[in-house]
Amino acid sequence: MMTANEVRESYKKFFEGKGHKIVASAPMVIKDDPTLMFTNAGMNQWKDIILGTKDPGKDIRRVDSQKCLRVSGKHNDLEEVGHDTYHHTMFEMLGNWSFGDYFKEGAIDYAWEYLVDVLHLNPDDLYVTVFEGAKEEGLARDDEAAGYWAKHVAADHIIDGNKHDNFWEMGDTGPCGPCTEIHVDSRTPEEKAKVPGRDLVNKDNPQVIEIWNLVFMQYNRKADGSLAPLPMHVIDTGMGFERLVRMLQDKHSNYDTDIFQPVIKQIEALSGKRYGFTTPTGPNGECMSEQEKTDVAMRVVADHLRAVAFSIADGQLPSNAKAGYVIRRILRRAVRYAYTFLGQKEAFLYRLLPVLVHEMGQAYPELPAQQELIGRVMKEEEDSFLRTLEKGINLLNGDMDELKAHGRSELDGVSAFRLFDTYGFPLDLTELICREYGYTVDEKGFNEEMAKQKARARNAAAVENGDWEIIRDGEQEFVGYDHTEYSCHILRYRKVTQKKSFHFELVLDRTPFYGEMGGQVGDQGALVNDDETVAILDTKRENNQSIHIVGELPKDLKAEFMACVDVEKRNASAANHTATHLLDYALKQVLGDHVEQKGSYVDPTTLRFDFSHFQKVTDEELRRVERLVNRLVREDLPLDEHRDIPLAEARQLGAVALFGEKYGDKVRVVRFGPSCEFCGGIHAKSTGRIGFFKIIGESSVAAGIRRIEALTGQACEDALYALQDTMTDLRALFNNAKDLKAALVKYIGEHDEMSKEIERFRAQTVERTKQELLNRARLVNGVHVVKAVLPLEPADAKDLVFKLRESMGERLVAVIGSTAGDKPLLTVMFSDDMVKDHGLDAGKIIREAARLIKGGGGGQPHYAQAGGKDVDAIGAAVDKVVELAHL
Ligand code: SER
Repeated sequence: MMTANEVRESYKKFFEGKGHKIVASAPMVIKDDPTLMFTNAGMNQWKDIILGTKDPGKDIRRVDSQKCLRVSGKHNDLEEVGHDTYHHTMFEMLGNWSFGDYFKEGAIDYAWEYLVDVLHLNPDDLYVTVFEGAKEEGLARDDEAAGYWAKHVAADHIIDGNKHDNFWEMGDTGPCGPCTEIHVDSRTPEEKAKVPGRDLVNKDNPQVIEIWNLVFMQYNRKADGSLAPLPMHVIDTGMGFERLVRMLQDKHSNYDTDIFQPVIKQIEALSGKRYGFTTPTGPNGECMSEQEKTDVAMRVVADHLRAVAFSIADGQLPSNAKAGYVIRRILRRAVRYAYTFLGQKEAFLYRLLPVLVHEMGQAYPELPAQQELIGRVMKEEEDSFLRTLEKGINLLNGDMDELKAHGRSELDGVSAFRLFDTYGFPLDLTELICREYGYTVDEKGFNEEMAKQKARARNAAAVENGDWEIIRDGEQEFVGYDHTEYSCHILRYRKVTQKKSFHFELVLDRTPFYGEMGGQVGDQGALVNDDETVAILDTKRENNQSIHIVGELPKDLKAEFMACVDVEKRNASAANHTATHLLDYALKQVLGDHVEQKGSYVDPTTLRFDFSHFQKVTDEELRRVERLVNRLVREDLPLDEHRDIPLAEARQLGAVALFGEKYGDKVRVVRFGPSCEFCGGIHAKSTGRIGFFKIIGESSVAAGIRRIEALTGQACEDALYALQDTMTDLRALFNNAKDLKAALVKYIGEHDEMSKEIERFRAQTVERTKQELLNRARLVNGVHVVKAVLPLEPADAKDLVFKLRESMGERLVAVIGSTAGDKPLLTVMFSDDMVKDHGLDAGKIIREAARLIKGGGGGQPHYAQAGGKDVDAIGAAVDKVVELAHL
């Protein structure tokens, strides 16, 4: 029996034998495409070639195994995962590609040869579907594909399929075309005798499933919904690797293959529960028995572990936005299943990581290289969600107490949604807990709340891209590495509307404008000719092109323009970008080789660099980093740029590559002395142009990831002047002292002395006042009444009444009104016997008396203070206290 690794290898070798070049998987996380967060199909990385905006070069046949994630957008399998045995969040897709070379016949013949002649699948078990056509799109049945299939399979193994199953689209827009799918019937002979396989194709039967989709890319779906023909025909095939391995290893479930079993065994070992090899039997894949629940949870955990680990390896950390939030949700889903069904109350997922790395590390070296980081990030995420899980459960217990008190049996939708929204509580977890205590949840109310929130989010974000209006045919040439001004024409433009505002986006035939990418902001500048000047507000990057953003369209769209970059801003960004390379190098030197770039941001005024490191960088280390960078700046190392060199050559140069970054066959390498990196950005001509480098901040962004913020060049100059001005101002305050530090030390010494002196003076004053007050005390029914209005600080007033009590011991009522500043303060002290024997309560009495000074306060029975607003009434308030004491 072939192992999973052997199957992957055999597929690549087969197509290599048919003239295909073996290429690497693109990263699963997509960085620079606003329309797609994750690779969800093998064709994503070839989108530009398929649309005709990029030349495929000589390799027009390719083969690969692509890491994919289907958890959002058009292709979303998340809810099925774990509840069935053949959907996954992350999966590998085996693909063979023809860019304008063989088409339908070739793709069908190769697929058949590989499955039947190489893998020896039984032709009787194979069913194929072909597109039945769609009148509303003006598309006919794919008779051509059906004809080629007739060479290989019996007529009753060819089934027509509708647009949903047999017309493949990448998303709402983009490349698409009819497809033909290959399904395998892996049921027992008895089952096959009862119901023919063709009746179960596309019917959600777990034993009759699609394994391979051959897409005949012929169209581009436009924003207005219409189909435009593609410039060339493309073959895009995708075979589910996990499903194929399951067929070949004769298992009922993808999870029973050697792809998942090692991880499941480890889950068993750590949780003490057994995997039952069940397949869900309940309606809609719902699981019924305890064993089925355990099995679903183990499948969920085994699946999600891969998705989360590979995403982190590709540079996507869990977060609260976009792709980061998708990863966070997947991880939380796994934690929830482990918590509820596997009894894991502490972080658990990260403990499975070593097994995953052991199994998949050879095929995907990004995993072992970053194992420590991945583990730390996972553990921190798990810990933090487990904390909210518990808080949420406490809240829910409170809600259920309420229900009980009011004799109700259903938790309302708003409460369930609050648990979801604030504590990340999925609805089914809330339902499960409620059920245990005999309550139900208003699911409809929950969904209404959810819909309301989604509508709010949609309204806030709705961006509408108009279709491109073509002015000229052609492709864009980027000339920005060598020029900051260049003559150009507009190729196409579109209008982009967000809420009520709008702007236009232009594609030029030649442009020196750098579009935002790799952390470096886009260029600004203008399109200029004799008749007009149009400001370019920003430049972004899409499909490998610079997209120029303008507020207004030029009057003459066909005219020739000079595209002029704002050179001052560009040079400042370039210097900052070069500084991040030097910083990366210096960090590796000072902290060690484990330092990996995890993100960066570069604009004309600042730079930010995120990297893996597991503790705070000390001040001493930061200084060594700064010194090293500044030494390289002073060496004025020239930019040594290698453009369009083969990947292998770049690696030989020792260029530092980033995990999760997509590199083509040809790459650009940027070297400054010892620093050598793969990079497409704009750089300074030499390191001297950085001027000076200064770190201004070091902090933590996530578990195991630190961030450095720094300044260069003129920003350093400005910062230095600001510092100098502060120093000058300080010196001026100290009579322009030469030695500011000595002057300050002296000042602080004198200040301390004076404070002590004042303390002594105050204590004396309080002591003297006490004596005077005691001498003046009146005796009322045997009680010493001390009352006065004095200019005292609150602390002194307190001090005074405590001293009075100390001297008098018993039978004392002391009331001090004080007026420090413009605020009145009332302070009351009763000796203990007055509280015990006479039942006096200073706290209560002062609350009433304080009304006179328009204030409030309180305290204990023997001592209380109250502030107020009306200074003039303080004497009356003092008298009121004495009155209320009823002596
Ligand atoms: N693009 C098709 C799919 O993802 C075939 O690779 O299914």
